[in-house]
Amino acid sequence: MKAAVITISDRASKGIYEDLSGPEIERLIKEMVPACVINRKIVPDEEDDILKAMKLFTGYDFILTTGGTGIGPRDVTPNVTAKYCDRELPGISETLRAESLKETNSAMLSRGFSGMKDNTIIINFPGSVKAVTLCTKIIAPVMVHAVKMIKGEGH
Ligand code: MTE
Repeated sequence: MKAAVITISDRASKGIYEDLSGPEIERLIKEMVPACVINRKIVPDEEDDILKAMKLFTGYDFILTTGGTGIGPRDVTPNVTAKYCDRELPGISETLRAESLKETNSAMLSRGFSGMKDNTIIINFPGSVKAVTLCTKIIAPVMVHAVKMIKGEGH
């Protein structure tokens, strides 16, 4: 299984602050899904850069993004993801928001989108370490099953 983690942040991409969320997603997936090979990339909150990174990793089983899901003027991650995907997976984002709401009311401000481009599942996580820790722990246990379903292998 292959997964890509894309950190979407102007400041992290410029080195103004260290990207902690991308490495945390990688660490947790390695722990929970040891068979998963992971690649990471950091891009600014720019449609073209986000799209280029998503195209680069399409063909992987998963693309997990972190950041840019909110309502700030530069938050475009969900818009780019929704435009790029050919099928929506609303249950994933519904679950992430519902579980995140138990942690903080600000979770309702995340517009994160989940969907598929060809056979690649793309999921938007919010940007904070706290958020990605929760979201990764929710997603990791269904990753193997999801890939089986996509390959038509049944239950
Ligand atoms: N979800 C969880 N689980 N934990 C969090 O701390 N932070 C929220 C929300 N989702 C948060 C969360 C906050 S403060 C915002 S503004 C939105 O995600 C959007 O975050 P983003 O713009 O970094 O993607």
